[in-house]
Amino acid sequence: IEGALGGGRLSGRRIVMTSGPTHEPIDPVRYIANRSSGAQGNAIGRALADLGAEVVFVTGPAAVPPPLGVQVHRVETAREMRAAVLAALPADAAIFAAAVADWRVTHESASKLKKTAGTLPALAFEENPDILAEIAQLDSGRPRLVVGFAAETDDVIANATAKRARKGCDWILANDVSPATGIMGGTENAVTLITAEGSETWDRAGKDAVAARLAHRLADALEAE
Ligand code: CTP
Ligand code: CA
Repeated sequence: IEGALGGGRLSGRRIVMTSGPTHEPIDPVRYIANRSSGAQGNAIGRALADLGAEVVFVTGPAAVPPPLGVQVHRVETAREMRAAVLAALPADAAIFAAAVADWRVTHESASKLKKTAGTLPALAFEENPDILAEIAQLDSGRPRLVVGFAAETDDVIANATAKRARKGCDWILANDVSPATGIMGGTENAVTLITAEGSETWDRAGKDAVAARLAHRLADALEAE
């Protein structure tokens, strides 16, 4: 509503984001995926749009439909997601909320793999492109603010801090996705924002509230420049 009325803090800003899982095909009927529901990404897209941003929302096959008020680009694989993000640049900021499959099957079979007595399929894997790292390290056309997530189950802050440095992004939102937290597939999130200045832990809150806080924080940062 705020954005629609033209008074949004992010009006005039173009923000590219990724959301949801990716699917990596094995054969015509099977794929590799992960447990991302897309709920946190949807909430972020909605929060950015509510502040008036022009949001390019690149999403894998998520369980929930994308929010209203964003430009939806549907993709399936990590490579398609990368291409859609690159095609959407330039942008003021980029937020990477997708759970990108780290590996894809090297040889997608054009026909369905069949059970054969006495043998098991041997799948070979290769690494997918790291979209966040690539955008964060662009020599020209890098968005001013590049934000990633770090989904961890162990040593959350240490791993996320190292991840921020390795990828070259500005901010990382670290979250503990151990099953006991109920965050994967749940309605709440508990994140620690890691920046060049250090880290701050946000109270556990609904994914909508976390998204709104991030959107306002992003507006602060873009206004400060
Ligand atoms: N990401 C990405 N492209 C990939 C893998 C991850 O853009 N191929 C982004 C995610 O959207 C997220 C961030 O990078 O914003 C971190 O993802 P994560 O899976 O936590 O990190 P990885 O570098 O893949 O490391 P690992 O899974 O081994 O912890
Ligand atoms: Ca990963």
